[in-house]
Amino acid sequence: MDDFEKLKDKISRDKHFSCSQYKDPYLKRRFAIRMRATGAKTYRSYIKVLDTVPDEYQILLDVLTVNVTEFFRDVSVFTEVERVLRSIIKEKQAKKQNTLHIWSAGCSNGSEAYTITMLLDQILGPKTKDFKITILATDIDNASLKRGSDGIYDPNLLKGVKRSYLTKYFEKINGGQYQVIAPNRKIVTFKKHDLINDRPHAMMDVVFCRNVVIYFSRELQETLFANFYKSLVDGGYFVMGKTETLVGEAKDKFIPVSNKERIYRK
Ligand SMILES: C[S@@+](CC[C@H](N)C(=O)[O-])C[C@H]1O[C@@H](n2cnc3c(N)ncnc32)[C@H](O)[C@@H]1O
Repeated sequence: MDDFEKLKDKISRDKHFSCSQYKDPYLKRRFAIRMRATGAKTYRSYIKVLDTVPDEYQILLDVLTVNVTEFFRDVSVFTEVERVLRSIIKEKQAKKQNTLHIWSAGCSNGSEAYTITMLLDQILGPKTKDFKITILATDIDNASLKRGSDGIYDPNLLKGVKRSYLTKYFEKINGGQYQVIAPNRKIVTFKKHDLINDRPHAMMDVVFCRNVVIYFSRELQETLFANFYKSLVDGGYFVMGKTETLVGEAKDKFIPVSNKERIYRK
């Protein structure tokens, strides 16, 4: 086994973090960031750094699970998502159903989940109280989950939020930061969940998994897409990242709603 493989193996064993599911070139680029920062010239010396420098493991895991995100990321997707949510709600109202379950898988700091709360409020207005809405926001990164449940953001993360939404759905707090208003925070539950090792959630009306699987091997992508298909109720929707491509058996099963915006239906 070469030292790169040994490093992957060590991380998987020590942290139950499945390195083998990530693409090697991606892992190499990410390891290189930390090796440069710690002055480790080889994989072998970086293994020593992991064993001796107390915070290094956490920093490496943060680097491996890049959590770049923003509100209304890819605005055209959310225009289409709003249309989809309207049609789901219309169908539910016609069938006298009042539950709506949404999963933001790989939610990072919650920007995506809270974007959805704003759209739902726009669609439902005072009728929100007639619905039992849950948005489950999951990630493996603890720091991101904490940020999400606090719901506090720097203004630079809110560039995609319309001024009228900023006034309506955020409160300005100390230090020039903005906090999502309590009713919107109440709808979203943040929970630790590893897409690779944990059981998928079920009975979802919509699953968002955007800009997460791009770092995973093709094989794992196929498994995850098939899992997301199973996570959905019949007629449920799957929203993936704009630069991601549906592969495997899910590709044949899902019906495209918008190929351009990567939205599919069960
Ligand atoms: C680039 S962010 C995407 C955030 C959001 N979905 C978006 O599109 O803006 C990728 C997120 O996936 C999470 N992630 C990576 N591997 C994961 C795994 N195995 N299980 C759950 N989340 C994971 C990372 O921690 C990170 O927060």
